[in-house]
Amino acid sequence: MGIKKGGWFMARLTLQLPSNARMVVVSNRGPFVFEETPGGLRKKEAVSGLVSALLPLFRGVPGIWVAWDGCIASGKEINRAYQEGNLKWLGVPLTQEEVALYYDGFANQVIWPLCHYFIEKCIVNSEWWEGYRAVNQKFAAFSKKASGEADLIWIHDYHLALVPGFLRRRGADGKMPKIGFFWHIPFPGPDTWEVIPWARDIVEGLLGADVIAFHVPGYVENFLSCVASFTDATILPNRRSVLYRGRVIDVRAIPVGVNHELFTALGRDETVREQAGLLRRQIGTEKIFLGVERLDYSKGILERLAAFEYFLEAAPEYHGRVTLVQIGVPTRNGIGPYSDLRRQVEMMVGRINGRFGTPSWTPVQYFYRAFSQRELAAFYLAADVAVVTPLRDGLNLVAAEYVVTRDGGSGVLILSRLAGIAQHLQEALLVNPYNVAETAVAFRRAIEMPASEQQARLEALKQRLARRTANAWVTAFLKVVLEHEVGKASAGY
Ligand code: UDP
Ligand code: G6P
Repeated sequence: MGIKKGGWFMARLTLQLPSNARMVVVSNRGPFVFEETPGGLRKKEAVSGLVSALLPLFRGVPGIWVAWDGCIASGKEINRAYQEGNLKWLGVPLTQEEVALYYDGFANQVIWPLCHYFIEKCIVNSEWWEGYRAVNQKFAAFSKKASGEADLIWIHDYHLALVPGFLRRRGADGKMPKIGFFWHIPFPGPDTWEVIPWARDIVEGLLGADVIAFHVPGYVENFLSCVASFTDATILPNRRSVLYRGRVIDVRAIPVGVNHELFTALGRDETVREQAGLLRRQIGTEKIFLGVERLDYSKGILERLAAFEYFLEAAPEYHGRVTLVQIGVPTRNGIGPYSDLRRQVEMMVGRINGRFGTPSWTPVQYFYRAFSQRELAAFYLAADVAVVTPLRDGLNLVAAEYVVTRDGGSGVLILSRLAGIAQHLQEALLVNPYNVAETAVAFRRAIEMPASEQQARLEALKQRLARRTANAWVTAFLKVVLEHEVGKASAGY
């Protein structure tokens, strides 16, 4: 996987990579999910902000990605190496037990709820922890195998916090590639992390990297506070680097960017626009609100539905004239809180439609399925208002994609203050998603907003996102990693 000077990540990137640099990307979720069906393996695109951010990296350029393929490893031989165009992907096979302990258990019922401040959903279970450690060791082994002579291993997200530390130990005897780590979800402070007994192990695992990055400065500060609380590392006075066991680790806020090229193009694409027109005619109301996310409790779907119900109660003049389209993508189906949420959402949609609906009007149109990004773009164009109201979100790409796709100067974004991206998108209608009454007011304000105000806000939002592209994120991250010198704090970014 040779990387040509400046060419590997597309010519537009300003970063000059060394002429023979090689990179391995490591994450739990890969670009596709394979399902074993009686007719053989069925491939689906993964729905994940992480995948949306990383996939453009591999379009038209060579690369290797180490990730789980979504299958349960059985005795049967399955080809675990995939190739599509320039994307090479080494699948990490996981057994049913590993998935139960590491993915359903520790990653998604300990770290995920903890980092999204759902402490009551976080279960302290040491068997899950042991499973998490073991699978992180397995990922480290696969990454090492894939890396060969690699100059850089870039590891992603909360599933793999221990991989940098394990890699550092494995590589102690030979040449060590640079190790970068990007944490895609919120990172809380020590008073939250100390709910679990393994906070120190997780922080020390991450400190195996040369560079660790988060979406926003607040998460960096929380990470540094954890370093100070749980380890004997020294935080350097600039609060951008840490000294740990003789090595310097750089810590940065580098928010993921939106796939600008794709969504701008989709917003202008004739067939997507026709599809959007068709959706509008089929939905049939004057105004359309849109919610899009995985069916995850962190996304605030129940609170949004409650706000819509509150709005309908308070605004009888809008009955028959507005629709909330809610897309809930199936996710983490094996886990209790996710199946509970599905039931609750379905009950609430039924209640609102039963209460307010008429033979000619369904107030909430609910889809429990995933759409391709092309199909999603038609929804973005059809919707007068995007309602992105997570109770907590590391960043949130859907909000950015809505803004970038809109092409006619109209469209309103209602956005949770508790999404990382809200720090950059101050011209949205910002709400506290826990405050149902406030969100209900924003529903009305959005559909009554004068065209000139919509245009001014949207234009400002577009400007803010113009520099925050997926490519710019990759370039910024790699610049810090490649400039990192062992033993020295980097000046980059
Ligand atoms: N997405 C998709 N199909 C869908 C719904 C969402 O492809 O039906 C994509 C969407 O375009 C976005 C990503 O999934 O890029 C979701 O990223 P986000 O950061 O909003 O949330 P996450 O799911 O990572 O928590
Ligand atoms: C978030 C996480 C990603 C994850 C995605 C989808 O975006 O940061 O790492 O891939 O959710 O969740 P899943 O469990 O399907 O991978």
